[in-house]
Amino acid sequence: MEIIGIDGSPRKESVTSRLLTIALEEAQREGAYTELVRLRDFDIRPCKGCASYNGRCNLEECLKQEGEGVVPLLERLIRVDGVIFGSPVYWFGPSGLMKNLIDRMTCLEHEEKLLDGKVAGLIFNYEDEGASIAIGELFLTLSDMGFLFPPYSYTYNQGKEIDPHTEAYIRQMGKNMVRLIKDTIQKKWWWIRDHLPQGP
Ligand SMILES: Cc1cc2nc3c(=O)[nH]c(=O)nc-3n(C[C@H](O)[C@H](O)[C@H](O)COP(=O)(O)O)c2cc1C
Repeated sequence: MEIIGIDGSPRKESVTSRLLTIALEEAQREGAYTELVRLRDFDIRPCKGCASYNGRCNLEECLKQEGEGVVPLLERLIRVDGVIFGSPVYWFGPSGLMKNLIDRMTCLEHEEKLLDGKVAGLIFNYEDEGASIAIGELFLTLSDMGFLFPPYSYTYNQGKEIDPHTEAYIRQMGKNMVRLIKDTIQKKWWWIRDHLPQGP
């Protein structure tokens, strides 16, 4: 079982990385292979919108659209069982780095549901406000992409210090992700395609 944590902070010593490390530590203790991935190490160009109005949007097409920087990470997402998305709150939403990745993940769900049944967790770091709006935004998006969420699957931390309550919550999230993966591995959830009206 493999779970990766994705840090969407552009900062080298990000609080987000510290928070993700705690969650991954707990997942590892439960038996998962884990790794922390930093988005700032990838050259992720913005999505070019190929999916709009029935355009082709798949991994192969994405690679052609300045996708060299992001496709290796997208291929990794197909292989892993769980992903913890971590980001600072930037203007009531995820960071631009994280948003760019999310947009480019469209090619993993548009023609085929390649993320179906993977388990996700969310961690945000913030200073003033907007964490719950940012979390809500990613919940909607990732659920639409086919991700499953364990109970207590999100945590947000305020400022540079990590208080023991937040830390306990993050550990619980890491542990519950492993439990949900064990319970649902190999299960698929997307089945309506055969029942949808066919396009032109
Ligand atoms: C461009 C930008 C936008 C931000 N917007 C918000 C915001 O809307 N709400 C908030 O609470 N903090 C905001 N912040 C503060 C960051 O969320 C905060 O510094 C963050 O916790 C840093 O986490 P990191 O160490 O993981 O990068 C913003 C910071 C930047 C640079």
